[in-house]
Amino acid sequence: MVAEKIAVIVLAAGMGTRMKSALPKVMHPLAGRPMINHLLDTVSALAPERVAVVVGPGMDQVARAVAPHPTVVQAERLGTGHAVAQARDLLAGFDGTVLVLYGDTPLITLPTLQAMLECRREAPQPAVVVLGFRPDDPGEYGRLAVGPDGLSAIVEYKDATPQQRAITLCNSGVMAVDGVRLFDLVGRLGNQNAKGEYYLTDIVALARADGAACGYVEGRADELLGINARAELAVAEILVQQRLRGAAMAGGATLTDPASVHFSWDTRLGRDVSIAPQVFFGPGVTVGDGVEIRSFCHLEGVSVAEGAIIGPFARLRPGAAIGEGVHIGNFVEIKNAVVEAGAKVNHLTYVGDARIGAAANIGAGTITCNYDGFNKSFTDIGAGAFVGSNTSLVAPVKVGDGAVIGAGSVITKEVAAGALAVARGSQMELAGWAERFRERKRAERAAKNKAKE
Ligand code: UD1
Ligand code: MG
Repeated sequence: MVAEKIAVIVLAAGMGTRMKSALPKVMHPLAGRPMINHLLDTVSALAPERVAVVVGPGMDQVARAVAPHPTVVQAERLGTGHAVAQARDLLAGFDGTVLVLYGDTPLITLPTLQAMLECRREAPQPAVVVLGFRPDDPGEYGRLAVGPDGLSAIVEYKDATPQQRAITLCNSGVMAVDGVRLFDLVGRLGNQNAKGEYYLTDIVALARADGAACGYVEGRADELLGINARAELAVAEILVQQRLRGAAMAGGATLTDPASVHFSWDTRLGRDVSIAPQVFFGPGVTVGDGVEIRSFCHLEGVSVAEGAIIGPFARLRPGAAIGEGVHIGNFVEIKNAVVEAGAKVNHLTYVGDARIGAAANIGAGTITCNYDGFNKSFTDIGAGAFVGSNTSLVAPVKVGDGAVIGAGSVITKEVAAGALAVARGSQMELAGWAERFRERKRAERAAKNKAKE
């Protein structure tokens, strides 16, 4: 079987004024990456021969985000048909099926796109297949006019009669079009309509007038949510999170309270990972088999190896590499540090720019003093070392394997392997001092009161 030839045009020229943002709309993130990258990821599963993204002037950020796919600038927003026409050169000579997608409608799924391609293969082969849907509120969506022989036209709301406005089947905007005809069709569009725009939707009536068939597929409204404002961005985030949670559970993770766990698009979980309520994964997190993540943890840019226990209330920042069976406890922050197998950092600790050797034990309140206001310095703690509670390790500093550090120490010099280091004021004691002190104070008070009488 010859693989079907597919090209994709993504329309993303709109700035998205209703977002009230300096960022182009399609760059707003869902699960930690721009919405347009979600769409391109879905599309990549179809192995398209070419992908062209139509952007507005000055949208270099979008061009960088979609690279290596090429972009073309639509200098003036003259309508969706005009936008598609801008991709003509990028698709020159392409004779397969062209999918037209909107950058602000990123939740569409692979099976839906496949259903459209399937419809294109049916006889008589439709020149244009439109993805329709039935939203709860059809509002100002274009309406699909369907006759006995398939789709006859798309009517824009502003141009529709009351009878046409009563149609509940709406245009999602997504189309699969015969690549041989597409640019001829869009080249013939006019703009004599309510908005004075070149409507892509008019290619249906044009193709029908040419004697070609047109078809439609009905998609799900929750996949076709268009993001125009922040409130819709929030709804889309909920939908993306639901998918990510579903995928995590399908992959063998237990989520005690799925709705309270937030994933990034690239979170990778092993099997038998268990995640308690209220856990946040920023981008770049990999979690090994059998890891337990307790409530109220925040992880970003970290790897956690098999069998580790994290939290509750732990913050793992970029560059943390947590080894097998490590315990990271409450109110512990780890940044850019390797914590080797079996080590324990259980309470109230900051570890930054460091290595903690295997099976080392880091006492409560230990701080690596890694920053002097100018430079970051490294702390190296050997395997099996024991760092007493409330120790400050002033980097750069090294603690040898198996060394013991007394609680409350401020360690500024290297500690040899196997040594004990204690660096704190030594304790003194004055017998009976407390009672003498209280007596003196009581006498002073009595004298003061007497003077007032
Ligand atoms: C469009 C459809 C409508 C459909 C609706 C679904 C047309 C004429 N109408 O209407 O039938 O129900 O989408 O959401 O196509 N864009 C450009 N350049 C332009 C104009 C638009 O790149 O010159 C991009 C926008 O950035 C956006 C997409 O095309 O991603 C849709 O444009 P929009 O103006 O939102 O079209 P609607 O009026 O919503
Ligand atoms: Mg729109």
